[in-house]
Amino acid sequence: MNIEIEALNPTLGAIVHGWEPEAPISKKTRQTILDALRQHIVLVFRGNPQPSDTALVHFASGFGELVKGSEWFQDNGDYAEILRVNNVYDKEGVPQGTGGSTELGWHADYSYVPRVGKESFLNAVEIPENPPRTCFCNQYRALETLPEKTVAKLRTLRAFHSITNYISGDESQSDETSEKPGAVVTSETRAGFKAKRERNRELGIEKPDIPQAEHPLIMTHPDTGREILYVSPQIIKFIIGMPKAESDELIEELTEHSLREENIYRHDWQVGDTVMFDTLGSLHRRDSWDPAQRRIMRQLSTML
Ligand SMILES: [Fe+2]
Repeated sequence: MNIEIEALNPTLGAIVHGWEPEAPISKKTRQTILDALRQHIVLVFRGNPQPSDTALVHFASGFGELVKGSEWFQDNGDYAEILRVNNVYDKEGVPQGTGGSTELGWHADYSYVPRVGKESFLNAVEIPENPPRTCFCNQYRALETLPEKTVAKLRTLRAFHSITNYISGDESQSDETSEKPGAVVTSETRAGFKAKRERNRELGIEKPDIPQAEHPLIMTHPDTGREILYVSPQIIKFIIGMPKAESDELIEELTEHSLREENIYRHDWQVGDTVMFDTLGSLHRRDSWDPAQRRIMRQLSTML
């Protein structure tokens, strides 16, 4: 396999040419990909045959232990490591994946569990006519460009991350983020999770409760030692020990700082694209799309 990397943007984003999803991958090629990921944060594998589920799991697991995301999201697929991100529903109205075609706000994958997402992989199986873009934000650069005084303050702080009521489908546990535009939590997705939970109960399938987690606002990438502004705005509920209003204001300020134009790459999807990204060192969001049209993606993450 002869991999070539073509940078897309000075801040983040590169195309990877020459990936053969079904072929064995050498240590050297894997290292070339990892080096490119460290440099570009977002890698787009384009123009190759569509990987099977098995090939996708095999490829991703070469970079680390995979999160069994579909168990937490209450799906019953062949591979617990593949999260089905789609808006397809069965005849009984149970979502075949995460459900929903609404905008998904800025977040880092699996920030709400103790072992957070490290690398993520997103593969496009089917996309609508006007496909929603996925945008990525460089959180290394966000931290590097903060004033020293702010960084010193952030070093002392930890945040509480949770999507428990989203996953449980429990609408009675209201939370403020559900009212924000672009929030992860919507009544549509909540209803979908509730339907899945009921389906699984009928099938006698026990699914683990999704944990909640606390993390520092500044994380260090274990492979590079680089520091990251770890603020997952749609998932963080509050900064530990800080009054709510002050905590909300700080999260908003930091998010605004991160989302400067020069820190962002917007991906226009083609069917068959596999995007690998440094989910620890970045944030991402997606646009909404016409719910009458199908969008089917496969998502995997390694864990820290
Ligand atoms: Fe995500």
